[in-house]
Amino acid sequence: MKKFILFTYLTIFYSAVIVNAQARKEIVIATKNVSVILTIGANNRVYQSYLGKRFVNQDDDRLIPGGKHEAYITGGMEDLLQPAIRLTHSDGNPSLELQYVSHDAKNLDDNVSETNILLQDPKYPVQVILHYQAFNKEDIIKSWTEIRNNEKGEITLDDYASSMLHFEAKDYWLTQFHGDWASEMKMQESKLTSGVKEIDSKLGTRADMYQTPVFFLALNKPADETTGELIAGTLAWTGNFKFHFEIDERNALRVISGINPYASAYKLKKGETFITPAFIFTYSTTGKGEASRNLHKWARNYGVLDGNKPRLTLLNNWEATHVNFDEKELVNLFDDATKLGTDLFLLDDGWFGNKYPRNNDKAGLGDWQENKSKLPNGIGYLVKQAEAKGLKFGIWLEPEMVNPKSELYEQHPDWILKLSNRNENYQRNQLVLDLTNPKVADYVYHVVVDMLVKNPGLAYIKWDCNRSMTNAWSPYLKDRQSALYVDYTLSLYKILDRIRQKYPHLPIMLCSGGGGRTDYGALKYFTEFWPSDDTDPLERLYIQWGYSNFFPALTISSHVTSWGKQSIKFRTDVAMMDKLGYDIKVSKMTDEEVKFSKQAVKNYNRLNNTIWFGDLYRIVSPYEENRMVVMYVNEEKSKAVLFNYNLNTRYKEVLNRVRLQGLDSHKQYKVEETNLVPGTKSNLAENGHVFSGDYLMTMGLNLTPGKLIPLTSMVIEISAAN
Ligand code: GLA
Repeated sequence: MKKFILFTYLTIFYSAVIVNAQARKEIVIATKNVSVILTIGANNRVYQSYLGKRFVNQDDDRLIPGGKHEAYITGGMEDLLQPAIRLTHSDGNPSLELQYVSHDAKNLDDNVSETNILLQDPKYPVQVILHYQAFNKEDIIKSWTEIRNNEKGEITLDDYASSMLHFEAKDYWLTQFHGDWASEMKMQESKLTSGVKEIDSKLGTRADMYQTPVFFLALNKPADETTGELIAGTLAWTGNFKFHFEIDERNALRVISGINPYASAYKLKKGETFITPAFIFTYSTTGKGEASRNLHKWARNYGVLDGNKPRLTLLNNWEATHVNFDEKELVNLFDDATKLGTDLFLLDDGWFGNKYPRNNDKAGLGDWQENKSKLPNGIGYLVKQAEAKGLKFGIWLEPEMVNPKSELYEQHPDWILKLSNRNENYQRNQLVLDLTNPKVADYVYHVVVDMLVKNPGLAYIKWDCNRSMTNAWSPYLKDRQSALYVDYTLSLYKILDRIRQKYPHLPIMLCSGGGGRTDYGALKYFTEFWPSDDTDPLERLYIQWGYSNFFPALTISSHVTSWGKQSIKFRTDVAMMDKLGYDIKVSKMTDEEVKFSKQAVKNYNRLNNTIWFGDLYRIVSPYEENRMVVMYVNEEKSKAVLFNYNLNTRYKEVLNRVRLQGLDSHKQYKVEETNLVPGTKSNLAENGHVFSGDYLMTMGLNLTPGKLIPLTSMVIEISAAN
């Protein structure tokens, strides 16, 4: 009898669910392993019902109960926490309700699908479209929002997030990445408590100097590299951003990501549309490593310029000469590049300005003519000389900035962001140009393009940006000052778009006084970025570890310099982990060091395919042990490269064997230490031996054989033997 009652009860319950599911409409946004399910409530609003692992049986999508949390919460209505959108209508009404109108879903190709959900306020002709692109293979979802004003008058957007996501977990663990000049990407994890936590930038330009627009959010318990449920998110925006995490009274978390609305109320005239930048995220049930690999794959295929193409090794002259050089010295330095065997020579800051020569950082910025006394024969001559030596030639530019001591400043005082009734406020003795002014934008475009037209051999640009915005006021925007932060970034993108139309594949490094600009809004125009001016390899290990969570190796420029007191081998091994370059006085190196470096460049050229395009496994974190171990495995699992770095290890410190990851258990692999200093032998007991992938991943390798020496390193090449 009891059984019967239970059965009847279950039947009624399930049919109720199914009837309910049939009556309602689900919108499923899915990749291979991840899905987001939205449902439309009886009140016609759209709710997030699910975000997580995709169900094996897709019919199960319909069993998901209707959501409690509106997908894109509006301000001025009944929700009392932070909204995703808040606006003021043309009649002064500060409320917005968004009701479902329609949606469409289409496949853009066999990997990418797009879902667009049209919402409208029942009382006002304001429309919002929620856009979602799902990248199937990469398990990435890219979401952004479009806001249309069809009212008769102007509306003001006060908050206009790209994305809002909801979670219901026991606990929430946030990993953020913060820093400063020369100490970027410090990783910090904390448990969120009830109320608000925000990570943001108000810097305008060089926007990521203190906080990078990336995070991990682990659900229930902290995630590590191989276990735990989490999302990894990043905002594709090169200006002020904000991530808002808010735990409500029932322990539900909302995550709102977008442009920082701080001082940025944005007005839309009748008929105008605002499109937010994209929030890009992935979800993993197997820890941070998987999330990073998803992002790396997506970035190479969609997020970074030419992400599936090779990169150039280079010798930069910044550390070697700073701004003190002349043509003769540079041509001599070309020989250094050929000695090392790099592909390119990169001329840094200091080559320009005549009335106000750029002999230090106090003058010349903005006057992009070759300095006649340093470079009497111009850039063209240098390009030719480099080419004669088998090198490509690249150049440094900082086109958004101006020194007060410059002809540009004298000629166009109204092209500069500054408050006319206050003292000019300098960072590195410079000011920011008013990119919102189309004339200035055109000037910036021409700085770059005219130089490339004049010197057709120019093969590379380093695009720098060495200050943030302070005391900012745009002479051009007049009474629309609150559009400054947003319009500046949009104008920068337009300039980059124009440059890319003419030069779609020219490699350009994104630099901002080190890692002040590291985001996927910019990276679609750039091939790589400069992570930090700190090139001390010990510091770099933490910085590169940090960036590797969100950006693929081929975008992370890593140069061998004289910073740090470590051996040339340690310095090189650290730089080889990402995109190798040099910024060093080769003349000050010993013959042995040069010999080693030349061989290292050759080794890198042999291994770079695996490093650039392989899957990254972060095996031992420098935050957890006195060493760092990472490895890259190519797609076929036929080749892997392992990097092992001892940090400040102590006398008799015990470091255990290390289990490898990502190999094919059934394949046999030869393990060989490479990048050895000429004349030295490997200490690795297993050097040259063949093991199954299973053994290497189960038993592992002893990466600290013999005496443990601080700041030493090993590069191990692992090649399938069958
Ligand atoms: C910034 C960059 C450096 C170098 C200098 C030149 O600090 O990060 O790499 O180019 O500018 O002034």
